[in-house]
Amino acid sequence: MTDVTVRVPAKVNLQLGVGPLRADGYHDLVTVFHAVSLFDEVTAEPSDRLAVSVRGDSVDVRGVPLDGGNLAARAAVLLAGRLGVEPAVSLHIRKAIPVAGGMAGGSADAAAALVACARLWGADHEDLPKLAAELGSDVPFSLLGGTAIGLGRGEVLTPVPVRGPFHWVFACADGGLSTPAVYAECDRLREVAGRPVGRPEAARELLAALESGDARALGGALDNDLQPAAVELRPALRDTLAAGRAAGALGALVSGSGPTCAFLAESAEHAADLAAAVRAAGVAETVVRAHGPVPGATVI
Ligand code: C5P
Repeated sequence: MTDVTVRVPAKVNLQLGVGPLRADGYHDLVTVFHAVSLFDEVTAEPSDRLAVSVRGDSVDVRGVPLDGGNLAARAAVLLAGRLGVEPAVSLHIRKAIPVAGGMAGGSADAAAALVACARLWGADHEDLPKLAAELGSDVPFSLLGGTAIGLGRGEVLTPVPVRGPFHWVFACADGGLSTPAVYAECDRLREVAGRPVGRPEAARELLAALESGDARALGGALDNDLQPAAVELRPALRDTLAAGRAAGALGALVSGSGPTCAFLAESAEHAADLAAAVRAAGVAETVVRAHGPVPGATVI
C-alpha cells in the first residue's frame, strides 16, 4: 500500500453558545460549525514505527508536538488499537490552519489521520465518527465538514442546509490561546457577573440566513459566548475586531476559543478588499481569505 494524503478544513463557529460547566469538566454547547477553505494535509506513509513530522508554509508550527501527544498520532494509535494492528505509520502534516488559533487545527489533523489510516488499514469509515469523538470535541465536525449544529460537547452533529458560498477573512494572531484556559475564563467572568447561565439555543435568524444565503443577515447573527473571555485574555483582539468592522465587515467575531478573528464579507471581491484593509491596519500577524462551507476530511 502506498501513501494516502487527506485534505481537511479549518472551522469557524458561527454561533458558540456555552452552557453551564458539567460534572465531567466540559460545557454543554449549542454551536454552529462552518468548515472553511483553509486546509491542512496529512499524509500517512507505511513505516516500521509511528512517527510525526510537521511543516507549515505560512504558519508557525513550533507549538505542535511531534511525540505521542500529537492529536494525529493519537488518532493513529486509537484506530490501530481498535483494529488490532500496529500503528506502523509515518504521518506528515502540512499545516495552513493556525496552531491553537480557535480553528480546530489539531482536531483537523486528527480527523485527517483517522481517514488516512483507515484507508491504509482497510477500516470502515462508518466507525470513524465515534473514534473522532473520543479524540476531541471538534474532531467529528472536522470529519464531516459543511455546516452543522453541534450539541453535547460539540460532537453530536446535525448538518444544516446552506446556500453558499460565504466569503471570509481571518486575522491570525501571533501566538495561540489555550482552549481550557478560555473556557475557564468564561466561567470566571460568569461567576463575577453573578447571572445564572441558561441552556443556549440555536439562533433561528442565523439558520435562516444560512439557508437563504443572506450574508448581511448572517453577519448580524454571528455570536460567540467565548469571545469576552478570549478578549479578556488577549486584549489586543479588541483592536483586531474593531479594524475589521471599520473596514466594512458584515460581521466580526473571535473564532472558537480564539485568538483568530473572523470577518464576513459580501463577496469574493469584498473579501479581497477587506483582507487588504485589515492587513494595512497592522492588527494581525497574518491575514487570509477563505470561503465556506467546504467538505470535511477527504482523500486526495
Ligand atoms: O474536547 P477537547 O479536547 O477539544 O476540549 C479541550 C478543552 O476545551 C476541554 O478540556 C475543556 O476544558 C474545554 N471544552 C469545554 N467544553 C466543551 C468543549 C471543550 O469545556 N464542550
